[in-house]
This record gives sequence, structure tokens and C-alpha cells, in this order.
Amino acid sequence: MTVKLASPRGTKDILPEEVSQWQELESKARAVFKTYGYREIRTPIFEDIDLFDRSLGQTSDIVTKQLLKLEKREAQEEYTNIYIAPSEAALLTLTPGAIGVPSLVLRPEGTASIVRAYIQNSLNKKESLSQFYYIGPMFRGERPQKGRGRQFHQVGVEVIGLKALDNPDLDAKVIALSMRLLKELGVKSPDLKINSLGSKQDKKSFSSFLELHLKKDFNNLCEDCQKRFERNVFRILDCKNEKCREIVRKLDLKGAHLSKESKEYFEKVKKALQRLDIPFEVSSHLVRGLDYYTHTVFEIFPQGKYGSQDALGAGGRYNQLVQELGGDDNGEIGAIGFALGMERILLEKPKSSAPEKENFEVFLAHHGEEAYEYAYTFEEKLRTVGVVAGTSYDANLSLQSQMRWVDKQNVPYAIILGENEMKEKKAIVKDMKSGKQEKFAFKDLIKKIKKKLKKGE
Ligand code: HAM
Repeated sequence: MTVKLASPRGTKDILPEEVSQWQELESKARAVFKTYGYREIRTPIFEDIDLFDRSLGQTSDIVTKQLLKLEKREAQEEYTNIYIAPSEAALLTLTPGAIGVPSLVLRPEGTASIVRAYIQNSLNKKESLSQFYYIGPMFRGERPQKGRGRQFHQVGVEVIGLKALDNPDLDAKVIALSMRLLKELGVKSPDLKINSLGSKQDKKSFSSFLELHLKKDFNNLCEDCQKRFERNVFRILDCKNEKCREIVRKLDLKGAHLSKESKEYFEKVKKALQRLDIPFEVSSHLVRGLDYYTHTVFEIFPQGKYGSQDALGAGGRYNQLVQELGGDDNGEIGAIGFALGMERILLEKPKSSAPEKENFEVFLAHHGEEAYEYAYTFEEKLRTVGVVAGTSYDANLSLQSQMRWVDKQNVPYAIILGENEMKEKKAIVKDMKSGKQEKFAFKDLIKKIKKKLKKGE
């Protein structure tokens, strides 16, 4: 028996009847971005691993556990399921967390790639403020579950360029955009949580504060958090384990680690959100798992589901990233962005009714070889003038069965081509609703059909 092939774990086919939901989401998002003056950017779906090491952080969950690596076949002969460079005959393999030294990975998120593109293309020299949006697939080798895939899709924005700490109003505008987008996309009253991580220096003192206060409870932390204590102590704050949560609840986190300047900045962000009428809650436990964040961070959850693993989206400032990736000698280029998970949005929004299947406007029914040939080529001519046309590819199918099918499918017009019609160089056009039949010369057929379908000359 032949073994059936299936899509890789954590990936999903989006079938034609679902695609309309995706298209609707994408076109609504594009329309909103347009009103904000954002322009689309598309970056490759695989990048050098160094990009993510240097931006997300070598100790982040994504880099340590979830990167899907592309490996040369010679390096490891395990799987050969991606073939991307036929000219070099380089077979690449896709192995979550594989050992070895691969240099390419499927992108787990968009921010780092966009900053790379911004630097590589010297966009800072072309514009003082770059406002990008992106829509596309991302890849993480996670344990798949509802709303969590190995290939998933994000719609997001990145705003890069204004001087780092001059624009708390921009933070609020970007957050407002994420909320507006969710509203337009049909997600009802999501919960917005915000926090400030402060500057890089503030983050260091925050991390020392956490180490100091969590040390005594080290043995009571879960196994993962004991590792996090060494690697990335912030992540203990959003652990879902009840014991860890209790330990964390005892910590007094109310922004003690923030410098005066960072506190003032965060106050301004909050005031700007109030001016824009965006409801929010400050959550001092919100830390985000990626290294690049500084100052404002935020996460958006379906109503009443804060703390769950199904955030609809998240984002924040990353003021050092352009500099850290080598694009800003003076450390002046600030940046902020967010990404929303498209699968998660689709789970939350009410489904709009699927559009009807595309129906033929005209069907060419034929009898005999000559008529088949004519229908076969005339179908193409109709399509080039914008008529949704079809015919049967079975030259031997009886005219009767073809007409029965046309009737069942509610096709408005049939063009009937039999042996007589071929001789006369005329075709019968049947209005399937009224049953009325007319004969037209082949040379007039396109014009007559367009007129019947009320398609402009
Ligand atoms: P993130 O929190 O890793 O942030 O992902 C953003 C959103 O993508 C999540 O809130 C979730 O909705 C969705 N998402 C993440 N992983 C999965 C998955 N495995 N399956 C389904 N959906 C998922 C970032 O990616 C940052 N780049 C956001 C950002 C942009 N920060 C600044 N600019």
C-alpha cells in the first residue's frame, strides 16, 4: 500500500472555501494601513541565523527552541524536504532544533528582518520616518495546538526612524492602530495590557532585582523557570505554572527598576493613550520574551483571556535594535511595532458567510469533433474579454448530458454547437432561464454574449 503524504506537523492547508476569510482580513488590513500612510514591505522567508541570534537574543525561547533550520544535505542526511537551489544542487533539510551549524533559518517573526532590510537598503538616508506593514507566514517549531502552529501568519507594522526617546505620542498611535485594526477585523473589545521595560540600563537593574528576589525561591520554581533564572530571568514573570505565579505575585514590581526619564516617558505614553480613548491596563508582569524590547511593551488578548497563551498580538519599542544590527552609529534611531496573529484573529472574529462558488456565465456545449475544437478555443476568447466561460473537456460527452449539467448549475447562458451549427458557422445561444434560443453568426458571437451579460463593449 502506498503511504499517504500529509502536510508537516503544525501546518495547515487553507482550502478555497476558507481563503475568502483570509482575503477579507488582508484587504481590510491593507485599507486601514493606507489611511495611516504605511507602506507594504516583503522580506525573504528565510534569513541568516545570526540575525535572530543578535536581535531576539540567544537565550530567548524562539532562538533556543523554536527556530526551523535549513541545512545542507551534506551536513546532515536526515530529511530532504526542501529543495531550494536547483542550480547548486543544494538540497536543504527542515529539522526543528537540529544539531549542526546551519546558517539559514525560516523567519520566526518579521521585526528583525525588516530592521535588516532597513539597514541593508540605507532607508534611513531616504526617509526620516519609515512606516512599514507586512502580512505573511512565520515559522516556529512549537508544539502545535489550537491557534498555535509551526507555520502561522502575522499582520504587523514597524515604524523606524524617529529619535529614540522623543515620541511617546507615536507609541500611543501605534498601539491605537493595533486596536483599530482588530476592531475593523471584527474582534470585539480585546483587552490591552501595557508595561515599560525601561532603557537597556533599566532592564539590567530589573534583571538584577529579579535575580536577587527570586534566588531564595529558586528551589520552588518549576524546572523551566530554574533554567530561565540562568538564561532569561524576565521570562519567569510570565510562567503559567501556578507555583511560579504565586512566587511572582509576591514581588513588588511597580516600576521600581525604571529611571526617572523612563518613568516620565511611560507616563506620557499612558496620557497619549487616554487622549486617544484607548482603554488599557498596566501589567507590571508583562515582559515579552524577546531581547530587543526597551520601554513600552504591550500585548492584546481576547476579552477576559489575559494570561492565557492565546494573545491576539503583541509589540513594543526596540530602540537599540537598529544600532545593534549595525545601522546606527549614534544610537539615535528609535523604532516600535507590533504583530497580530492572523489565525488567532480568525478564531475570534465572527465568520462572514462564504461567497458562492464562482459560477460560469456561459457554457459551451458541443457535439462532434469539430464543435469540440471550436468550443475549446472559443472558450479562451470569451475569457479574454472578461466572460466567465467553461466547456467540457470530454469530446464524447453527449450534448444532452452537457445541457443537463448546465441546467443544474444555474449557468445563465449556453452556447450550443452541433454539426449543423458548425456547417452554418452559427451558434445557438440559449437563455437557460426563459428557454429562449437565438442563432448568431460566429463573427458576432462575442458581441452578442457581452451584450446579454451587460458587459461593456
Ligand atoms: P510575538 O508575541 O512573538 O511577537 O508574536 C505576535 C503574535 O503572533 C502573537 O501574539 C500571536 O498572536 C502570533 N503568534 C506567535 N506565535 C504563533 C504561533 N506559533 N501560532 C500562531 N500564532 C502565533 C512578535 O512576533 C514580534 N515580532 C512583534 C513585534 C513587532 N514587536 C515589535 N514589532
